[in-house]
Amino acid sequence: MEQKKLTVLDIQAMREKGQPLTMLTAYDYPVAKQINDAGIDMILVGDSAAMVVHGHPNTLNATMDMMVLHCAAVARGCARTMVVADMPFGSFQYGIEETMRNAARFVTEAKVDAVKFEATPHHIEKTKAIVQMGIAVMGHVGLHPQAVGALGGLKAQGRTIETARKVMTEALALQDAGAFAIIFEAVPAKLAAYITKKLRVPTISIGGGPGCSGQLLVTYDVLGMFDTFTPKFAKKYANFNKSMNETFVQYRQEVLDGKFPTEEHVYGVSDEVMDAIVKEFGKAD
Ligand code: KIV
Repeated sequence: MEQKKLTVLDIQAMREKGQPLTMLTAYDYPVAKQINDAGIDMILVGDSAAMVVHGHPNTLNATMDMMVLHCAAVARGCARTMVVADMPFGSFQYGIEETMRNAARFVTEAKVDAVKFEATPHHIEKTKAIVQMGIAVMGHVGLHPQAVGALGGLKAQGRTIETARKVMTEALALQDAGAFAIIFEAVPAKLAAYITKKLRVPTISIGGGPGCSGQLLVTYDVLGMFDTFTPKFAKKYANFNKSMNETFVQYRQEVLDGKFPTEEHVYGVSDEVMDAIVKEFGKAD
Protein backbone atom coordinates (compact mmCIF):
# COMPACT_ATOMS: atom_id res chain seq x y z
CA MET A 1 0.00 0.00 0.00
CA GLU A 2 1.35 3.42 -0.92
CA GLN A 3 2.23 5.47 2.16
CA LYS A 4 1.41 9.18 2.37
CA LYS A 5 4.13 11.43 3.73
CA LEU A 6 3.20 13.20 6.96
CA THR A 7 3.41 16.99 6.83
CA VAL A 8 3.53 19.75 9.42
CA LEU A 9 -0.27 20.03 9.00
CA ASP A 10 -0.74 16.37 10.00
CA ILE A 11 1.53 16.88 13.02
CA GLN A 12 -0.47 19.94 14.11
CA ALA A 13 -3.77 18.08 13.52
CA MET A 14 -2.60 15.18 15.75
CA ARG A 15 -1.75 17.65 18.50
CA GLU A 16 -5.18 19.27 18.20
CA LYS A 17 -6.89 15.87 18.43
CA GLY A 18 -4.83 15.10 21.55
CA GLN A 19 -3.13 12.16 19.77
CA PRO A 20 0.38 11.70 21.25
CA LEU A 21 3.16 12.17 18.67
CA THR A 22 5.93 9.60 18.37
CA MET A 23 9.50 10.34 17.32
CA LEU A 24 12.80 8.42 17.32
CA THR A 25 16.28 9.18 16.07
CA ALA A 26 17.79 7.33 13.10
CA TYR A 27 21.03 7.59 11.19
CA ASP A 28 20.78 4.98 8.40
CA TYR A 29 18.40 3.47 5.85
CA PRO A 30 17.51 0.07 7.41
CA VAL A 31 16.66 1.49 10.84
CA ALA A 32 14.76 4.41 9.29
CA LYS A 33 12.70 1.96 7.21
CA GLN A 34 11.85 -0.10 10.32
CA ILE A 35 10.80 3.07 12.15
CA ASN A 36 8.71 4.18 9.17
CA ASP A 37 7.06 0.75 8.89
CA ALA A 38 6.31 0.73 12.65
CA GLY A 39 4.17 3.83 12.17
CA ILE A 40 6.35 6.31 14.09
CA ASP A 41 5.42 9.87 13.06
CA MET A 42 8.81 11.62 12.96
CA ILE A 43 12.51 10.80 12.81
CA LEU A 44 15.21 13.12 14.07
CA VAL A 45 18.52 12.52 12.34
CA GLY A 46 20.26 13.77 15.46
CA ASP A 47 23.80 15.00 15.80
CA SER A 48 23.85 12.28 18.48
CA ALA A 49 25.15 10.33 15.45
CA ALA A 50 28.58 11.73 16.39
CA MET A 51 28.39 9.80 19.67
CA VAL A 52 26.32 6.69 19.01
CA VAL A 53 27.50 5.93 15.46
CA HIS A 54 30.93 7.56 15.23
CA GLY A 55 32.14 7.03 18.82
CA HIS A 56 32.92 10.67 19.67
CA PRO A 57 32.60 11.77 23.32
CA ASN A 58 29.94 14.42 22.55
CA THR A 59 27.89 15.87 19.68
CA LEU A 60 30.34 18.66 18.83
CA ASN A 61 32.16 16.51 16.30
CA ALA A 62 29.20 16.22 13.94
CA THR A 63 29.81 18.05 10.65
CA MET A 64 27.53 19.19 7.82
CA ASP A 65 28.88 16.54 5.44
CA MET A 66 28.42 13.79 8.04
CA MET A 67 24.85 14.89 8.81
CA VAL A 68 23.82 15.33 5.16
CA LEU A 69 25.00 11.78 4.41
CA HIS A 70 23.07 10.30 7.37
CA CYS A 71 19.96 12.36 6.49
CA ALA A 72 19.96 11.23 2.85
CA ALA A 73 20.12 7.56 3.90
CA VAL A 74 17.30 8.03 6.43
CA ALA A 75 15.09 9.96 4.00
CA ARG A 76 15.29 7.09 1.47
CA GLY A 77 13.71 4.80 4.09
CA CYS A 78 10.79 7.06 4.97
CA ALA A 79 7.76 7.01 2.70
CA ARG A 80 5.47 8.19 5.55
CA THR A 81 7.56 9.29 8.51
CA MET A 82 8.57 12.95 8.56
CA VAL A 83 12.37 13.36 8.60
CA VAL A 84 13.94 16.19 10.59
CA ALA A 85 17.64 17.05 10.14
CA ASP A 86 19.60 18.20 13.18
CA MET A 87 21.86 21.11 12.23
CA PRO A 88 25.32 20.39 13.70
CA PHE A 89 27.46 22.70 15.82
CA GLY A 90 29.00 25.42 13.67
CA SER A 91 26.33 25.22 10.95
CA PHE A 92 23.99 27.90 12.36
CA GLN A 93 26.12 29.97 14.77
CA TYR A 94 27.62 32.36 12.18
CA GLY A 95 25.79 34.52 9.64
CA ILE A 96 22.13 34.24 8.65
CA GLU A 97 23.10 33.55 5.03
CA GLU A 98 25.41 30.68 5.94
CA THR A 99 22.70 29.22 8.20
CA MET A 100 20.15 29.45 5.38
CA ARG A 101 22.54 27.76 2.93
CA ASN A 102 23.19 24.94 5.38
CA ALA A 103 19.45 24.45 5.99
CA ALA A 104 18.91 24.37 2.22
CA ARG A 105 21.58 21.67 1.80
CA PHE A 106 19.54 19.34 4.00
CA VAL A 107 16.48 19.85 1.83
CA THR A 108 18.10 19.74 -1.61
CA GLU A 109 20.87 17.14 -1.03
CA ALA A 110 19.31 14.93 1.64
CA LYS A 111 15.59 15.43 0.86
CA VAL A 112 14.56 15.89 4.50
CA ASP A 113 11.20 17.39 5.47
CA ALA A 114 12.37 19.82 8.17
CA VAL A 115 15.43 21.04 10.06
CA LYS A 116 16.01 21.44 13.80
CA PHE A 117 18.64 23.38 15.65
CA GLU A 118 19.55 24.21 19.22
CA ALA A 119 18.37 27.79 18.89
CA THR A 120 18.99 30.29 21.67
CA PRO A 121 17.52 33.84 21.65
CA HIS A 122 20.44 34.74 19.34
CA HIS A 123 19.05 32.47 16.65
CA ILE A 124 15.44 33.65 16.46
CA GLU A 125 16.12 35.75 13.34
CA LYS A 126 17.71 32.71 11.72
CA THR A 127 14.66 30.60 12.57
CA LYS A 128 12.44 33.20 10.90
CA ALA A 129 14.73 33.37 7.86
CA ILE A 130 14.66 29.59 7.33
CA VAL A 131 10.87 29.45 7.76
CA GLN A 132 10.59 32.29 5.24
CA MET A 133 12.61 30.17 2.78
CA GLY A 134 9.78 27.65 3.05
CA ILE A 135 11.64 25.12 5.21
CA ALA A 136 9.84 23.71 8.28
CA VAL A 137 11.81 24.34 11.47
CA MET A 138 11.62 22.41 14.73
CA GLY A 139 12.83 24.27 17.84
CA HIS A 140 14.78 22.77 20.74
CA VAL A 141 14.74 24.18 24.29
CA GLY A 142 16.04 23.04 27.67
CA LEU A 143 19.27 21.08 27.55
CA HIS A 144 21.36 21.91 24.49
CA PRO A 145 23.98 19.15 24.27
CA GLN A 146 26.06 21.32 21.89
CA ALA A 147 26.53 23.74 24.85
CA VAL A 148 28.00 20.98 27.03
CA GLY A 149 31.16 23.04 27.57
CA ALA A 150 29.39 26.18 28.78
CA LEU A 151 26.85 24.22 30.85
CA GLY A 152 29.55 22.14 32.53
CA GLY A 153 27.85 18.85 31.62
CA LEU A 154 24.60 17.38 30.30
CA LYS A 155 22.31 18.69 33.05
CA ALA A 156 18.53 19.21 33.32
CA GLN A 157 17.47 22.81 32.60
CA GLY A 158 14.61 24.87 34.09
CA ARG A 159 14.94 23.88 37.73
CA THR A 160 15.55 27.46 38.93
CA ILE A 161 13.27 30.47 38.36
CA GLU A 162 15.85 32.00 36.04
CA THR A 163 16.34 28.91 33.87
CA ALA A 164 12.61 28.04 33.91
CA ARG A 165 11.90 31.57 32.61
CA LYS A 166 14.56 31.03 29.94
CA VAL A 167 12.90 27.78 28.75
CA MET A 168 9.49 29.52 28.70
CA THR A 169 10.61 32.64 26.82
CA GLU A 170 12.67 30.67 24.30
CA ALA A 171 9.73 28.36 23.54
CA LEU A 172 7.41 31.35 23.01
CA ALA A 173 9.98 33.11 20.81
CA LEU A 174 10.48 29.98 18.68
CA GLN A 175 6.74 29.57 18.24
CA ASP A 176 6.43 33.23 17.20
CA ALA A 177 9.36 32.80 14.79
CA GLY A 178 7.39 30.05 13.00
CA ALA A 179 8.70 26.78 14.48
CA PHE A 180 6.13 24.03 13.78
CA ALA A 181 7.07 22.03 16.91
CA ILE A 182 9.53 22.34 19.78
CA ILE A 183 11.68 19.69 21.47
CA PHE A 184 11.91 19.91 25.26
CA GLU A 185 15.09 18.17 26.40
CA ALA A 186 15.74 17.42 30.11
CA VAL A 187 13.16 19.90 31.41
CA PRO A 188 11.13 19.24 34.60
CA ALA A 189 7.85 17.53 33.71
CA LYS A 190 5.61 20.12 35.43
CA LEU A 191 7.28 23.01 33.62
CA ALA A 192 7.11 21.24 30.24
CA ALA A 193 3.41 20.40 30.79
CA TYR A 194 2.68 24.02 31.73
CA ILE A 195 4.45 25.42 28.66
CA THR A 196 2.77 22.82 26.43
CA LYS A 197 -0.62 24.24 27.49
CA LYS A 198 0.59 27.79 26.79
CA LEU A 199 1.78 27.00 23.24
CA ARG A 200 -0.18 26.51 20.02
CA VAL A 201 2.45 24.20 18.50
CA PRO A 202 3.26 20.62 19.60
CA THR A 203 5.98 19.99 22.17
CA ILE A 204 8.15 16.88 21.89
CA SER A 205 9.65 15.50 25.07
CA ILE A 206 13.04 13.90 25.45
CA GLY A 207 13.17 14.07 29.21
CA GLY A 208 10.26 16.54 29.36
CA GLY A 209 7.70 14.13 30.76
CA PRO A 210 4.24 12.91 29.74
CA GLY A 211 2.60 16.37 29.61
CA CYS A 212 4.25 17.13 26.24
CA SER A 213 2.42 16.54 22.96
CA GLY A 214 4.81 13.76 21.94
CA GLN A 215 7.82 11.66 22.93
CA LEU A 216 11.30 11.30 21.43
CA LEU A 217 14.07 8.86 22.31
CA VAL A 218 17.48 8.09 20.88
CA THR A 219 17.00 4.78 19.03
CA TYR A 220 20.32 3.35 20.20
CA ASP A 221 19.10 3.82 23.81
CA VAL A 222 15.74 2.17 22.97
CA LEU A 223 17.51 -0.81 21.39
CA GLY A 224 20.08 -1.09 24.18
CA MET A 225 22.97 -0.44 21.78
CA PHE A 226 24.67 2.47 23.53
CA ASP A 227 26.03 2.01 27.04
CA THR A 228 28.62 4.79 27.21
CA PHE A 229 26.13 7.31 28.61
CA THR A 230 22.48 6.64 29.54
CA PRO A 231 20.49 9.73 30.51
CA LYS A 232 17.78 9.48 33.23
CA PHE A 233 15.02 9.87 30.63
CA ALA A 234 16.13 7.02 28.36
CA LYS A 235 14.26 3.70 28.41
CA LYS A 236 15.81 0.49 27.08
CA TYR A 237 13.18 -1.62 25.31
CA ALA A 238 15.63 -4.29 24.13
CA ASN A 239 19.18 -5.49 24.70
CA PHE A 240 20.69 -5.48 21.23
CA ASN A 241 24.22 -5.28 22.69
CA LYS A 242 23.69 -8.69 24.30
CA SER A 243 22.07 -10.16 21.16
CA MET A 244 24.88 -8.81 18.96
CA ASN A 245 27.57 -10.11 21.27
CA GLU A 246 25.95 -13.57 21.36
CA THR A 247 25.57 -13.54 17.56
CA PHE A 248 29.20 -12.53 16.87
CA VAL A 249 30.57 -15.04 19.43
CA GLN A 250 28.47 -17.82 17.83
CA TYR A 251 29.64 -16.85 14.31
CA ARG A 252 33.30 -16.91 15.40
CA GLN A 253 32.87 -20.27 17.11
CA GLU A 254 31.15 -21.81 14.07
CA VAL A 255 34.01 -20.64 11.80
CA LEU A 256 36.57 -22.07 14.25
CA ASP A 257 34.61 -25.35 14.48
CA GLY A 258 34.15 -25.66 10.70
CA LYS A 259 30.37 -25.42 11.06
CA PHE A 260 30.16 -22.39 8.78
CA PRO A 261 29.98 -22.22 5.83
CA THR A 262 28.10 -25.39 4.82
CA GLU A 263 26.77 -26.65 1.45
CA GLU A 264 23.85 -24.23 1.52
CA HIS A 265 26.15 -21.18 1.67
CA VAL A 266 28.52 -22.05 -1.20
CA TYR A 267 28.41 -21.76 -5.01
CA GLY A 268 28.80 -24.87 -7.19
CA VAL A 269 31.04 -25.34 -10.24
CA SER A 270 31.04 -28.15 -12.83
CA ASP A 271 33.75 -30.87 -12.92
CA GLU A 272 34.52 -29.75 -16.44
CA VAL A 273 35.59 -26.29 -15.21
CA MET A 274 37.62 -27.68 -12.30
CA ASP A 275 39.31 -30.32 -14.51
CA ALA A 276 40.34 -27.61 -16.95
CA ILE A 277 41.79 -25.45 -14.16
CA VAL A 278 43.69 -28.35 -12.56
CA LYS A 279 45.02 -29.35 -15.96
CA GLU A 280 46.29 -25.81 -16.59
CA PHE A 281 47.66 -24.95 -13.09
CA GLY A 282 48.39 -28.36 -11.58
CA LYS A 283 47.04 -30.04 -8.41
CA ALA A 284 46.62 -27.87 -5.27
CA ASP A 285 48.35 -30.37 -2.91
O1 KIV B 1 20.97 14.63 18.49
C1 KIV B 1 19.97 14.25 19.08
O2 KIV B 1 19.65 13.05 19.14
C2 KIV B 1 19.15 15.28 19.71
C3 KIV B 1 18.10 14.85 20.69
C4 KIV B 1 18.74 14.40 21.94
C5 KIV B 1 17.09 15.93 20.90
O3 KIV B 1 19.35 16.44 19.47
